Amino acid sequence: MTEVHVYPPSEEFVKLANVSGMDAYRKLYREAAEDPDAFWGALAKEHLHWHQPFEQVCDWQPPFAQWFVGGKINACYNCVDRHVLAGHGEKVALLFEGEPGDHRAITYAETLASVSRFANGLLALGLKQGDRAIVYMPMIPEAVFAMLACARLGITHSVVFGGFSAEALKARIQDLGAKLVITADGGWRRGKEIKLKPAVDEALLECPTVENVIVCERTKGDVTMLHGRDHWWHTIEAGQSEHCPAVPLDSEHPLFVLYTSGTTGKPKGILHSTAGYLLQCTKTVNWVFDLKPNDVYWCTADIGWVTGHSYIVYGPMSMGATQVIYEGAPDTPNFDRWWQIVAKYRVTIFYTSPTAIRALIRQGDHWPNGHDLSSLRLLGSVGEPINPAAWEWYHKTIGKSLCPIVDTWWQTETGSILIAPMPGAVPLKPGSGTLPMPGVIAEVVDLKGNPVADNHEGYLVINRPWPSMVRNIWGDPERFHDQYWSKLPGRYFTGDAARRDADGYFWVLGRVDDVLNVSGHRLSTMEVESALVHHPAVAEAAVVGKPHEITGQAVCCFVTLKKGDYDQEALGKELRQWVGHEIGAFARPEEIRFTDALPKTRSGKIMRRLLRELVTNNTVAGDVTTLEDLSILSTLAAQQDDEA
Ligand code: WTA
Repeated sequence: MTEVHVYPPSEEFVKLANVSGMDAYRKLYREAAEDPDAFWGALAKEHLHWHQPFEQVCDWQPPFAQWFVGGKINACYNCVDRHVLAGHGEKVALLFEGEPGDHRAITYAETLASVSRFANGLLALGLKQGDRAIVYMPMIPEAVFAMLACARLGITHSVVFGGFSAEALKARIQDLGAKLVITADGGWRRGKEIKLKPAVDEALLECPTVENVIVCERTKGDVTMLHGRDHWWHTIEAGQSEHCPAVPLDSEHPLFVLYTSGTTGKPKGILHSTAGYLLQCTKTVNWVFDLKPNDVYWCTADIGWVTGHSYIVYGPMSMGATQVIYEGAPDTPNFDRWWQIVAKYRVTIFYTSPTAIRALIRQGDHWPNGHDLSSLRLLGSVGEPINPAAWEWYHKTIGKSLCPIVDTWWQTETGSILIAPMPGAVPLKPGSGTLPMPGVIAEVVDLKGNPVADNHEGYLVINRPWPSMVRNIWGDPERFHDQYWSKLPGRYFTGDAARRDADGYFWVLGRVDDVLNVSGHRLSTMEVESALVHHPAVAEAAVVGKPHEITGQAVCCFVTLKKGDYDQEALGKELRQWVGHEIGAFARPEEIRFTDALPKTRSGKIMRRLLRELVTNNTVAGDVTTLEDLSILSTLAAQQDDEA
């Protein structure tokens, strides 16, 4: 192994940190490990407002956990009302920067007023606790208000990333049985209007459960409104009172469902409940982002992904943070848009993905160097492993060698950050998420569940329930059990490979299943395959991830065709578009390779492992004894040589 440079926190950072020094971290970790109920119970009382106190901290009936049993709580109240009541109504909650350059600063008092008016509008439409709503919106303040208004009333929200297509949207609406869709005319991206409403209209042709659609006006582009079903946001909230009591909800009330890719073609609805989720999001903002009252925090994620849920809406707002949200692309009008925003708002904490960092490195240092980034004091990374070269650039060029980088490992399922450094305590090693959070018992094991030796690769598992853990897969408890809890009973199987070094640091290496990670977005190979085989020309498809310099992985598809005459170049283009239509533009394959047959086992299973090897190493060295027809592999490899 190459030698790793270690970066201890500066004395100055340690002095002011929320958790100062390794002893403080170890103490927290020990307390949580020794008596998790006492640990989480005390934090829940200290950091959350309860409408009614809980009676039991954790009820663990594997694989189902309940946290803070008997308590009544409201996530929106905790994220908004309590700050206003504590006298911080004039504090800015959201610093919104639209892509065209428009700007709004919205205080906590204004957030409360907007959320309450909108929530009253929802009540007037007849929505109530237990209903489900889809949020399909651009990155504008109303997207945050929509989520919070749902949380206020006990309506379970499911945010669908605006980059998903009508098909993908439809599947999610149907699975959830949603009654309401909250959307916008569109949003701005790369100077263009990206329309959202037409996708909603198309999806709703086959979604009988949806009774109402609310459309927020953002781009003022053309919109068709269906009489009786569609309403403008501004008419929904017009004339509504700014007073709307937050509903006291059970701790385990379903706060949201977020669909994510798994190992089949059908996305899973990851269900999160209220109190435990909120607590761990809140605490990790304090521990990992070291948030202070005067910080200006900016997480560049979209609220359509879990990072936007936990580290734009629920965590930071529960902590009463001031944060930037930006609507558009990092390269519009130029590659320094982010750095311009950092300078404009004096951002102190900046959280983004390795893909974005790598893409910006490529454009040259003059972009960040042209701006005053001296306000930054902490940087974060999420979504995929960060390669040491990107880490070093981020540290030096953006952080001027003064800002710790928190590399945060977590998943849609974990709800909040589970492995990451506390920046005023833990010395950093580029590429490692370092140490687990208090209360998180992480291990690297073999398939029998035995710990592997230091520095050896194994499966990353979590041995104990934690407050923000996934509660279920919406409508599919069996899949929930099989997916996460069946491989090693009682322990959570993350699906990631990792190794732990002699200092106890975790190095997450990537997925061990058929989940791809493209630009930090999760995509299942099966999802892309099932999209491809929908196309009339396609007989079979096998999809694998190919290492990619910028996006981490790229989607590479092997396709066999039905009998016929095809112009392969045109068909390749068409199939790429097709996947975009079936899933969303971000899922468009980088490469389509046509082949006569796919390598299969004798039982007929496609051997993706071999294809993966082929696209990664250009040859196949692995075990091929179960392969049905070896000649296929040499044909595929030869094709590759021709192309090279
Ligand atoms: C990967 C995103 C290495 C991992 C929050 C995980 C990471 C999947 C890191 C979850 C990291 C996330 N280092 N890998 N810091 N963060 N991953 O559900 O493979 O979109 O299983 O959640 O991203 O992706 P998801």
